[in-house]
Amino acid sequence: MDPKAKKLEEKIAKAHLGGGQKRIDKQHHKNKLTARERIHYLLDEGSFEEMGLLVTHRTTDFDMEKQQFLGDGVITGYGTIDGRLIYIFAQDFTVFGGSLSETHAEKICKIMDAAIKVGVPCIGLNDSGGARIQEGVRSLGGYADIFYRNVQASGVIPQISAIMGPCAGGAVYSPAMTDFTLMVENTSYMFVTGPNVVKTVTNEEVTAEELGGATTHSTKSGVTHITSANDIDCLDDIKKLLSYLPQNNTKITKSLPFTLQDETREILEKIVPDNANKPYDMHHVISGIIDDDSFYEIHKDYAENIIVGFARLGGRSIGIIANQPLFLAGVLDVNSSKKAARFTRFCDCFNIPLLVLVDVPGFLPGTDQEWNGIITNGAKLLYALSEATVPRITLITRKAYGGAYDVMNSKHIGADMNFAWPSAEIAVMGAKGASEIIFKREIQAAENPAEKLAEKESEYAEKFANPYRAAERGFIDEVIQPKTTRRKLLKAFSMLEDKEVIKPNRKHGNIPL
Ligand code: COA
Repeated sequence: MDPKAKKLEEKIAKAHLGGGQKRIDKQHHKNKLTARERIHYLLDEGSFEEMGLLVTHRTTDFDMEKQQFLGDGVITGYGTIDGRLIYIFAQDFTVFGGSLSETHAEKICKIMDAAIKVGVPCIGLNDSGGARIQEGVRSLGGYADIFYRNVQASGVIPQISAIMGPCAGGAVYSPAMTDFTLMVENTSYMFVTGPNVVKTVTNEEVTAEELGGATTHSTKSGVTHITSANDIDCLDDIKKLLSYLPQNNTKITKSLPFTLQDETREILEKIVPDNANKPYDMHHVISGIIDDDSFYEIHKDYAENIIVGFARLGGRSIGIIANQPLFLAGVLDVNSSKKAARFTRFCDCFNIPLLVLVDVPGFLPGTDQEWNGIITNGAKLLYALSEATVPRITLITRKAYGGAYDVMNSKHIGADMNFAWPSAEIAVMGAKGASEIIFKREIQAAENPAEKLAEKESEYAEKFANPYRAAERGFIDEVIQPKTTRRKLLKAFSMLEDKEVIKPNRKHGNIPL
């Protein structure tokens, strides 16, 4: 071989070894793939083109010039996933623990800039011990350069972060500003300060897993949107998630082939129980409406009283927000409002139409909710839906009570089509509560107050626990039989395909944060 060609081959081989075989074995021993293996699994075979393979750090403190690894702990480049162009970076834990140096950050910034220019999604696979300790403030500057780009890219291209190892300190704020964060169970964790610092400052004893593992962030904090059992599942989840998203904010997600047939779904007739206080699983309504097996749930284990996720309807990608009567009767509270608001904003950024399924008894009462700002947080959802300009369709399956009726994509806040099933109850509150208030004196004066309450309750229910008062006013466009729902929605979303909203000129609104 020509010596010059040989030199290049040797450099490439060396770079591909990252921190060396010993450290690769250690990575495998922890049940983790290496950065390079992750990229090769995620991307279409042979599609990855690497950029910056030969980059090295510039530090000379602590004899660092003697420790040089080609690529400097992060693999960057572009390739395709299911034929779609994406940019990607994957931190290589075998090189200085994947820690972020000035040059490591420059490599990430370079592909973020390119992804914004080209208009394609940017995916980050994080596995890092944080700021490169030997570099001090230069690596902190590197983080801030990335954060700044996360914000510039927000709402322009989809940004997806997978946490596949440690992610601590300032490092957490880049994933937090991307659109979706995925975590791998048992091998990843995220926290601002680790268990040792926590112990020193607050005297709490907590393990890394309890403090910031995948389960913690998917159930308690909501920091992560999706958790996966291992690296391979996580990479499969990224592929699946991506399939519902467009390349950028000027495009729409590619539709799958679809031909309209008899779209009657008898199954939908049997879901809502006759007894209005009996729960049912809103997932059954969702699966009865959408294309077979197309639901991909986001934030599955967090604030389970509301369901959010992507689906296909007639081959089109849509976002679904649905109250879940199985948990807390589907009530709106602080966490469910935040969860649904964030999802709404994502869909609106990226031209994904919204379907809102309503069965909501109101907002959750209590000091905990009030002191944690249910007012401001409920307002987030109200604001997010009100400002969304994508096609928005609502279906009320059962309860739509009080202020929550307004919030859940009512006609009044700009929904395009509002449907209700005959089982819908659109009122200020439930019949019992309402009767106790407005007929208080009559009930107290009655010989048999319980009997009187029951009588008044059924009178109120007869009058208001139905969809017809709202339909008379045009707040509901159509009351439909459940079995016809899929067909109605297919036609309505198709009718709204070219919807356009011209907004007044302003810098940006001021969503209650
Ligand atoms: N800067 C420079 N090198 C780092 C590093 C950092 N922030 N974090 C880890 N490394 C290096 C280690 O020195 C070690 O190098 P070696 O392979 O030459 O021995 C290698 O990465 C692996 O680290 P190790 O500690 O052996 O791995 P671990 O799995 O046992 O622990 C961490 C991983 C992340 C918990 C641990 O490395 C750690 O606490 N790192 C520091 C985290 C931190 O405080 N970062 C700065 C603030 S953001």
